[in-house]
Amino acid sequence: MIDLTNDEILSFSREHVFYTWSAQAKVNPIAVKRAKGVYFWDLDDKRYLDFNSMTMCVNIGHGDERVIKAMQEQVAELPYAAPGMTTKVRALASKMVAEITPHQALTKVLFTLGGADANENAIKLARGYTGRYKILTRYRSYHGATAGAMAATGDPRRLVWEPNLMPGVVHFLDPYRYRSTFHRTNPDISEAEFAQDYLNHLEEIIQYEGPETIAAILMESVTGTNGIIIPPDGYMQGVRALCDTYDIVMIADEVMSGFGRTGKWFAVEHWDVVPDMITMAKGLTSAYAPLGAVAMKPELAAAFDEHAFESGLTYTSHPVSLAAAIANINVMREDQIVEHAAGMGKVLKRMLTDLGEAHPSVGEVRSIGLFGILELVKDRKTKEPMAPWNESSPEMTALKKYCLDHGLFLYTHWHTVLIIPPLIITEEQLKAGVDVLDQALEITDQAVK
Ligand SMILES: Cc1ncc(COP(=O)(O)O)c(C=O)c1O
Repeated sequence: MIDLTNDEILSFSREHVFYTWSAQAKVNPIAVKRAKGVYFWDLDDKRYLDFNSMTMCVNIGHGDERVIKAMQEQVAELPYAAPGMTTKVRALASKMVAEITPHQALTKVLFTLGGADANENAIKLARGYTGRYKILTRYRSYHGATAGAMAATGDPRRLVWEPNLMPGVVHFLDPYRYRSTFHRTNPDISEAEFAQDYLNHLEEIIQYEGPETIAAILMESVTGTNGIIIPPDGYMQGVRALCDTYDIVMIADEVMSGFGRTGKWFAVEHWDVVPDMITMAKGLTSAYAPLGAVAMKPELAAAFDEHAFESGLTYTSHPVSLAAAIANINVMREDQIVEHAAGMGKVLKRMLTDLGEAHPSVGEVRSIGLFGILELVKDRKTKEPMAPWNESSPEMTALKKYCLDHGLFLYTHWHTVLIIPPLIITEEQLKAGVDVLDQALEITDQAVK
């Protein structure tokens, strides 16, 4: 065991740690000591209820001994093998991932280190398979922070790095009903017509770009940090049909929405759609070890039967990560965690709806499974957001501070509050967190015009 005093942890961190996504002088990190179930504790033994599964990734909850033991055994037996070799865990983890894909149709699996490089590799595979180069993605999306994944990302995180990112990406609009550009004067349009309008928009872009140049459409099945945007019924099926019509590869980014988050193994199952590839990470190991994956249809993999797939990673299929993935999937099965998330999802929906009714600063609530959001507004009629696009505001900062002060860890993004707890959460624990949020929303209520 490493022995450091609390003061040493804080002072070494101040001196030597470089933080991502942060202005270094402004970072004020929680110093985490331990975690169990849906809770974690800081160095002062203050307990936090984890309403964000850390980084939306600890799906089975913290400190599960079954996963820890599997990793310990693997590191003792074989900590590493080269990418061209196979191992017991590589064989089994690939088979287990293939078996949980929709209709067990994505039978070949390439392991990566996380979500960004899963998307990078999916893009390379689609380009190699089709011989085309363009990738269509949506504006309200995040696909990772490496150059290609950042180019694919639609949200403002890509802007500071442009134009030095991967060329060939074209963005399109999301079927985001609450702020739909096309329906401001027609908000009550039927779900089917709404879906069709956004499919027409996508098809128009396919036409303008030239279908013969488009390798893939890459999208989050349910949009994550950009707003838990749940596609209307018919939309995913329609995207699948457009991909079939124009021979475009459909890639579902399930890095955040996969592994039970929405009450299904993968969110695309809600619409019974089988993409050509699924990218995954986060819940694949519940973050007990870093791991991502691309699961693909066999015909896509077969395109590389006679010529090499020119790509690689030293740590592809890292045995310790694969041991974590196998144990994680077994835990999810044994404890019926996907089913539990579906059940608790109904409870969360009810609780969020109640919050929405009680607080004038809540413009809209959306949730699917344990993947929820509150959109906070200053005015329900105009939908003026509680913080401007790509910024925070004093009200949002105060709301977050209130939650942290009261032991509730959650993620706020611009004018939204995300609720993404570990999937093992109970109704009582959900209520405890929502009660804190209920009080915190009084802060934003005061800003309502
Ligand atoms: C939908 C989605 N795709 C890709 C990524 C990138 O994953 P990673 O941070 O593991 O590279 C994320 C991370 O939050 C994500 O939410």
